[in-house]
Amino acid sequence: MTTAWTKSAWRSKERIQMPDYLDAAKLAEVEARLGRYPPLVFAGEARSLRGKLAAASRGEAFLLQGGDCAESFEEFSADLIRDTYKVMLQMAVVLTYGAKVPVVKIGRVAGQFAKPRSAATETIDGVELPSYRGDIINKLEFTADARIPNPDNMLQAYTQAAASLNLLRAFSSGGYADIHHVHEWNLGFANAAGATDKYKRWADRISDSLAFMNAAGVNSENTNALRSVNFYTSHEALLLEYEEALCRVDSTTGLNIAGSGHLIWIGDRTRQPDGAHVEFCRGVQNPIGCKCGPTMTKDDLLRLMDKLNPENEAGRLTLIARFGAGNVGEHLPRLIKAVEDEGRKVLWTCDPMHGNTIKSSTGYKTRPFDSILREVREFFAIHQAEGTVPGGVHFEMTGKDVTECTGGVRAVTDEDLSSRYHTACDPRLNASQSLELAFLVAEELENRLQKQRKVS
Ligand code: PEP
Ligand code: CO
Repeated sequence: MTTAWTKSAWRSKERIQMPDYLDAAKLAEVEARLGRYPPLVFAGEARSLRGKLAAASRGEAFLLQGGDCAESFEEFSADLIRDTYKVMLQMAVVLTYGAKVPVVKIGRVAGQFAKPRSAATETIDGVELPSYRGDIINKLEFTADARIPNPDNMLQAYTQAAASLNLLRAFSSGGYADIHHVHEWNLGFANAAGATDKYKRWADRISDSLAFMNAAGVNSENTNALRSVNFYTSHEALLLEYEEALCRVDSTTGLNIAGSGHLIWIGDRTRQPDGAHVEFCRGVQNPIGCKCGPTMTKDDLLRLMDKLNPENEAGRLTLIARFGAGNVGEHLPRLIKAVEDEGRKVLWTCDPMHGNTIKSSTGYKTRPFDSILREVREFFAIHQAEGTVPGGVHFEMTGKDVTECTGGVRAVTDEDLSSRYHTACDPRLNASQSLELAFLVAEELENRLQKQRKVS
């Protein structure tokens, strides 16, 4: 039996991976202030995203979710937002061409500020301090002061999220997203020294399609879909004080909506079916994501689906598989079986980042491009074998030319990592690696389509 949900009910559940604020009065003041601020997203947008994710769960669309591991106050700039947005658009064009279905674009942006950590403290040279938990909570700097959780950071996170969204909305409808520009950028990548002939051939085929549409009279002047896009936001709903403060009742439906982002997800460390995070997420109408790592049991998954999607509605629940290359075969089939046996509707997507983090020979936390690609390919192969839908991909990436993940066509080596290693948390794909992966995922999508055509 489900009890009536309230936006504060999570407070009576076990609270993990969240800070204990020292100044309760200050915390209450910040929560009250955020409670008066406008929501960042609107219920109608979250509903329309649910519809698109439902299509992706049936193979009628494909999800591209990507962005920073952790957004940073320090690095925030218009250029940073633009560069990541630009690469996501480039990837989306390539994926659309491969999949022949619309690509749903969701940024890890405008709210991705709180981080779960594997250890509560960090020790450097014998000094032990609380771990850094993301800019919405404390600071990265290794001093006792910087690591104290500060409620005011929530206000700064809100402001940065609002400014980011404002820019993203302007880019999406103001002409920047025109498919012809985006394709020009892709030609630049495909024709650059170091790119393989394979990418050039793909880019040429997309050029041909655009030329054909143009000749047939379909162009950016007369077709809105070619010059504007829908771009959605998402983040891990980890800091529940912030989520609760931005929760609103949708006046059209009377239902609760998380106003902090279009899609919110539950991390692999905080997905306990009886925990605080599941309790909060079950009551809001947004599409919800849930990370599935190797420790997810069949029983956990069944309980999570019961709690998070009791009406079994398509588009409500996205399962984000993140097992690590070489481990997908052991875990994904058993979880797919749990879903299929019960006739549950979910969207399966692949996060090939979080199971593939290693320490490089030079001491940096990194992720090899080949492992990332291998996990994506295993994800596709298993869905092919099971007859289910590989509905999307989830990347940690940036539009900047960083050196955080190794490999790719413009090979980043272990020795290169130190040159532009800027992440506040996990290693991200750079612009070139992200686009290269999009071409390789598009190849998987095209192969899948060809197999389906042969069958029918
Ligand atoms: C993340 O997406 O940044 C993250 C922490 O992932 P996970 O919960 O899958 O470890
Ligand atoms: Co991460």
